[in-house]
Amino acid sequence: MLEHLTVVTHPLVQHKLTLMRDKATSTAEFRQLLREISQLLAYEVTRELDMTTKRIETPMQPMDAPVLAGKKLALISILRAGNGLLDGVLELIPSARVGFVGLYRDEDTLEPVQYYFKVPESLEDRLVIAVDPMLATGNSSVAAIDLLKKAGATNIRFLCLLASPEGVETMKAAHPDVPIVTASVDESLNDKGYIIPGLGDAGDRMFGTK
Ligand code: URA
Repeated sequence: MLEHLTVVTHPLVQHKLTLMRDKATSTAEFRQLLREISQLLAYEVTRELDMTTKRIETPMQPMDAPVLAGKKLALISILRAGNGLLDGVLELIPSARVGFVGLYRDEDTLEPVQYYFKVPESLEDRLVIAVDPMLATGNSSVAAIDLLKKAGATNIRFLCLLASPEGVETMKAAHPDVPIVTASVDESLNDKGYIIPGLGDAGDRMFGTK
């Protein structure tokens, strides 16, 4: 079982994260770094997957070799910023099934509003990895996990780039069964729900919308 919170302190992850935080980093560089870092985080979030063995023949002899067990896992991108993480994770796990949860944050209430939901079938038989770069207030992450559980998912992990202490606590209170993997738990949230020191608006930085 993964811990409820895993902070990936690997030097490559931390170095890339610093480059991403820097406001002088361009949109193209930000996107490339996100792709690279998401593969390193994917390595962590897929620890302790169920394994089985398969009979194969090497050029030398037959052997029972380890392979992943069960149905293909499901990657769920929490739109829109989740797509930046999704691309890198998919490079590492190309056979994963992919779903999307569309939530936007009402800027006055900071509460999530759903506008899209499309996920693979048989979620109950799959490991489900929900991806969203920023675990800020935790409200939209909790709402996304609520929707995934309602759709049948029972084995869920949450992958993000940055988390706030408040976001981690909110997720732990609502979904203690969902392990979180992140590159950093930052200091705090500001009154607009942005992570401090953070990296700004992840969607704007990856898509160049500001
Ligand atoms: N979403 C972002 O993109 N950045 C934050 O700091 C918080 C939420």
